[in-house]
Amino acid sequence: MLARVRTVGLIRLLHVLDDARRKQRFVARRDRACGFDPARVRASTAAELSAAVHCEPLPAFTLRSALRGLSIDFSQRHFVDVGSGWGYALSVAADFPFPRLTGIEFAGELHEAAERSFEAFVQRGTLVAGRVRLRNESALEAELPDEPLLILLFNPFGEPVMREFLDLVDRSYLSTPRPITALYVNPRHRGLFERRHVRERKLAPMSRALLGLLGPNEVRAYDWIGPRSRPRLGRKT
Ligand SMILES: C[S@@+](CC[C@H](N)C(=O)[O-])C[C@H]1O[C@@H](n2cnc3c(N)ncnc32)[C@H](O)[C@@H]1O
Repeated sequence: MLARVRTVGLIRLLHVLDDARRKQRFVARRDRACGFDPARVRASTAAELSAAVHCEPLPAFTLRSALRGLSIDFSQRHFVDVGSGWGYALSVAADFPFPRLTGIEFAGELHEAAERSFEAFVQRGTLVAGRVRLRNESALEAELPDEPLLILLFNPFGEPVMREFLDLVDRSYLSTPRPITALYVNPRHRGLFERRHVRERKLAPMSRALLGLLGPNEVRAYDWIGPRSRPRLGRKT
């Protein structure tokens, strides 16, 4: 038992060190949960500002394990981080074969910090120019890309904003039915996903086990499903 606790502790420490090393690559790096100047936020309402959860990057291990557990063909999806902060989770997702990635962040300072770092990645040759797009806008005013999506929601906002955002995804899905999957980390408002076109997608058992044992964050996944985009059995979507 003690040996197991030690092993888990050691692996968690390795993950913390891995995150610390990755953060060194960022030009405008923010290690801690960081506040932002409310005057520089693009919120559609005051409620949106008060519902925001301040920036804290998602540990790389959690995102990698969750993505692997989805059994999705990443080359067919556009990755969208809703509440992308200074771009940490986006940089982890960029290691996967998504052809395009978008970060939506309403805080001006965090958006600009992400822009500076991603420009540096392109200059260093570690990122193809144009593959990552950063948008300084409110999640509630975002126009979701018109293609199959993988949306990351790392607990960006409280219940009223989450409800409105899911309504926005519903509208986008109904106007252009296409595969849409959301990864919801720290799913405090998971009840809001109980809606007509949404079904929970179980992560692969190995990912669930790893996340349960090693990750500090709970992760749920949801698919938007309708008559025209129900995934065919045995096919990666
Ligand atoms: C917990 S942080 C996640 C950061 C990022 N996803 C990562 O893991 O590196 C949540 C982010 O959501 C942003 N946010 C909160 N409400 C938002 C909204 N309504 N529209 C856009 N961004 C929002 C916050 O400013 C913050 O940067």
